[in-house]
Amino acid sequence: MLVKIHQVLTKEQVQQAKNILLDADWADGNVTAGYQSAKAKNNLQLLEGTEVANQLGDMILAALAKSNQFMSAALPLKIFPPLFNCYQGGGSFGVHVDNAIRQVPGTPVKVRTDLSMTLFLSEPEEYEGGELIIEDTYGSQTVKLAAGDMILYPSTSLHRVTPVTKGRRLASFFWLQSLVSSDEKRAILFDMDTAIQSLRSQIDDSPEIVQLTGVYHNLLRQWAQT
Ligand code: NI
Repeated sequence: MLVKIHQVLTKEQVQQAKNILLDADWADGNVTAGYQSAKAKNNLQLLEGTEVANQLGDMILAALAKSNQFMSAALPLKIFPPLFNCYQGGGSFGVHVDNAIRQVPGTPVKVRTDLSMTLFLSEPEEYEGGELIIEDTYGSQTVKLAAGDMILYPSTSLHRVTPVTKGRRLASFFWLQSLVSSDEKRAILFDMDTAIQSLRSQIDDSPEIVQLTGVYHNLLRQWAQT
């Protein structure tokens, strides 16, 4: 299931993030790549755990915590602190799968990567190329979103970033461990929650809505792992 979360950050927050990022120190993107992905990766990355990365990461996590769509689609248990990358001058990332387990730097916390996220910080017209291509069960999906928008996709997917041939593509990327590891089960819960929320906005709580809400929570109880 691919889910687009619209306007995680406001345009003002995007501008603030870009101003900070353009002043920051960047390193070779291979610092977080695994053995296989290092061979495919050609971009720049903000060093993990720096004050700048933490400050911007906290801004993103605070915005996501307020997004009902994100919370419902992802059912997050543990979120890896957001990282930041920059593609320019032909930079790209060949086809790969993200590492299954990520250790949060400086802590014993391990995050199983169930969902991968890319939050776009550059507007699509600021660069050429730089599409995120995700192999989905329905075929290849091409993703290039407005600045401030985010895509959520299963970390099991093969994906790549096409070369940025003009301009600069800034983005944040990170992972999360969901309460529900199965993408299939999570999709069912998301559909059901979306339908219940929509019913709630149209009509007053009826015994049927209360019953459906109960079914949602009872499924979540069966499937959640904490
Ligand atoms: Ni990746």
